[in-house]
Amino acid sequence: MLDAKITGLINEQINKEWYSAYLYLDIYSYYTDKNLNGFGNWFYVQAQEERDHAMLFVKYLLNNDEQVALTDVQASTKKFAAFEEPLEATLAHERIVTASINNIYDAAYSLKDFRTMQFLDWFVKEQGEEEKNATDLIKRFDLFGSDAKGLYLLDSELAARIYAPPTLVI
Ligand code: FEO
Repeated sequence: MLDAKITGLINEQINKEWYSAYLYLDIYSYYTDKNLNGFGNWFYVQAQEERDHAMLFVKYLLNNDEQVALTDVQASTKKFAAFEEPLEATLAHERIVTASINNIYDAAYSLKDFRTMQFLDWFVKEQGEEEKNATDLIKRFDLFGSDAKGLYLLDSELAARIYAPPTLVI
């Protein structure tokens, strides 16, 4: 059993993770439509990871005999006018998700909910990686993206990203 505040925040987080999956599916569609299939692949994998995050939070609630309350997932309304914009939107979004995870952690800390803190440790680390990945993508785009050959090679590199299930097992 968890404190009602923690259950509520985790239910909200489930929606945020599904929204992240939607956002990245939208970015996948954007790049694939532009024939940047490697960029598209990178975001397709990212959307799969976000779905996994949502599932982990669902499982955590159920493992603790708490109710899962699924809510409507908003579609992304972002419009992109340049290839770099989705990358910047990704970094901005991941920073928001980091703040949200930290907020749950803070609530768990206040309630001495050590179990939830331990569960969230994986997400705290994951958010560090997510922000770094988004930052690296922007830096690489800045270095190579303005030249057609560089963009082609970067796209080829991103095509190699392969989906791997989360290392967190609960
Ligand atoms: Fe589920 Fe991109 O954090």
